[in-house]
Amino acid sequence: MHFHYQCNDCGYEFESDDVTYLCPHCAGTEEPGDFRKGVLWLRYDKTQLRALKDKDDLSTEDFMPYPDPRPGAFPCGPTPLVRPAFLGDGIDLTLKLDSQLISGSFKDRASHAVACQAYHHGIRQVALASTGNAGAAMSAIGAAYGLSVKLFVPASAPVNKLMQSVLYGATVIPVKGTYDDAFGLSSAYTERCGGINRNTAYNPITIEGKKAVSIELFLQLGRRVPDIVYVPVGDGCIFSGVYKGFLDLFEAGLTDHLPRLVACQSSGSDAITKAFETGLPRPVKASTLADSISVSSPAAGLPALRGLKESGGHCVRVDDDEILKAQRTLAAKAGIFVEPAAAAAWAGFEKDSSHLSKGCSATVLLTGTGFKDMSVFEGRVSLPEPIEPTIEAVMEGLGVGSV
Ligand SMILES: Cc1ncc(COP(=O)(O)O)c(C=O)c1O
Repeated sequence: MHFHYQCNDCGYEFESDDVTYLCPHCAGTEEPGDFRKGVLWLRYDKTQLRALKDKDDLSTEDFMPYPDPRPGAFPCGPTPLVRPAFLGDGIDLTLKLDSQLISGSFKDRASHAVACQAYHHGIRQVALASTGNAGAAMSAIGAAYGLSVKLFVPASAPVNKLMQSVLYGATVIPVKGTYDDAFGLSSAYTERCGGINRNTAYNPITIEGKKAVSIELFLQLGRRVPDIVYVPVGDGCIFSGVYKGFLDLFEAGLTDHLPRLVACQSSGSDAITKAFETGLPRPVKASTLADSISVSSPAAGLPALRGLKESGGHCVRVDDDEILKAQRTLAAKAGIFVEPAAAAAWAGFEKDSSHLSKGCSATVLLTGTGFKDMSVFEGRVSLPEPIEPTIEAVMEGLGVGSV
C-alpha cells in the first residue's frame, strides 16, 4: 500500500522511497538520556485504506508497507488466541500467544517486516542492537530469507537468547558497554558498511511489523476489537505497534473505536508510566528480573504515550514478585509458559481485573516463551528426588498407603 511518513513529534509529513529512519527535523533534538524524538509513523493512502473495508478475505498483509518476497518461508502468525477455561472470572478473556512465533517472541513480527523492507530496497544485510529477543528474531528470519545479520549486544546480555542467534548463523558482536553503546555501534556500522538498521522504533518499519498483531486479533475475534488490551512495555515499541494496528483499522472504517490500551510495566522499569503520570518524559534507573522490559530510556516512549492518550488507556506497575506469580499462574491454570516480561501483562491484568466490568472483552498479549530463560526459577522451583522403580515407592512417595 502507498504510504508516506509522519513525525510523531512535529507532525512533519513527507514521502521517501529511500530507507528512512527518524524525522529530519526532530532527530537528535532531545536532551541526552531523554526519550527519543523524531520517531516516524507510516501513514497510508486514505482511499486505499478505506477500500479494505469491503474486502472479504482481509489479511494482515493488506496493511503492510512491503510485500513478502518469500511467502511461507517464515510465517509470522496467526498466533493462537486462547480462551482459558479457568482464568478470567466473568470477563470475556483472550490470551494472544505471540510467544508461539517461530523464534519464541513477538519480535518476529518486526523482524519479518524489516526483512521485507530489505528485499524491497535490494539490500541483503541487516544490523541491529538487542539484548535478546529482537536479535534472535532477526537472526532467525535472516536465516530463512538469506540475509546477513550483524547483531551488536551488550556483553552482559542473557546468554540463552544470544545462543539462539549464534545458532541461526548471525554474526554476534558482544560490546563492552551498555545497550546504548551497542545501539550506537550498530548505527555507525550501517552508516559505514550499508545495510538496513533494524533498531527498535529507530526504523519505523519495526512499528509497522508489530501492528500486525492488532489486525490479526481483530480478524480472530470476528472483525471486532476487544474493549481493552494489556501489553507488556519496556521501550514502548510493541505498545506503539499495537496502537498503530488499531489506528489503521479505525482509519479504514473497520472499527468505530480504539480499544483501551494498558501499558504494563515493571515497578523497577517504569519510565513510560512515570512520564504518563507526570507529563515529563525522563529516563529511570531500570532494574527488574524481567530483562526484556528493563529499559532506562524508552526508544518508543513518545509514540507509546500518544497511544496511551488516544486510546483512553492507562498504565499499571507490577513488582517482580507479582510477575513471577503471574508466570506461575499462567503455567498452572492455562498451560501457558511465558517469560517474565510477558507475564507482566498478565500481572497487570490481574491487578486491574477487579475494576473491569463483567462481560467486558479483554485481551492479554503474551509476548515471549518461558523456555528461553529457565534461570529465573533457580532456587524457586525444585524437582522431587528420584524414587526406586517400584509401585511401592510411588505409593510411598505420594503418601498413599498400600491397599
Ligand atoms: C518478550 C517481550 N515482551 C515485551 C517486550 C517489550 O517490548 P517493548 O520494548 O517494545 O516495549 C519485549 C522487548 O524486548 C520482549 O522481548
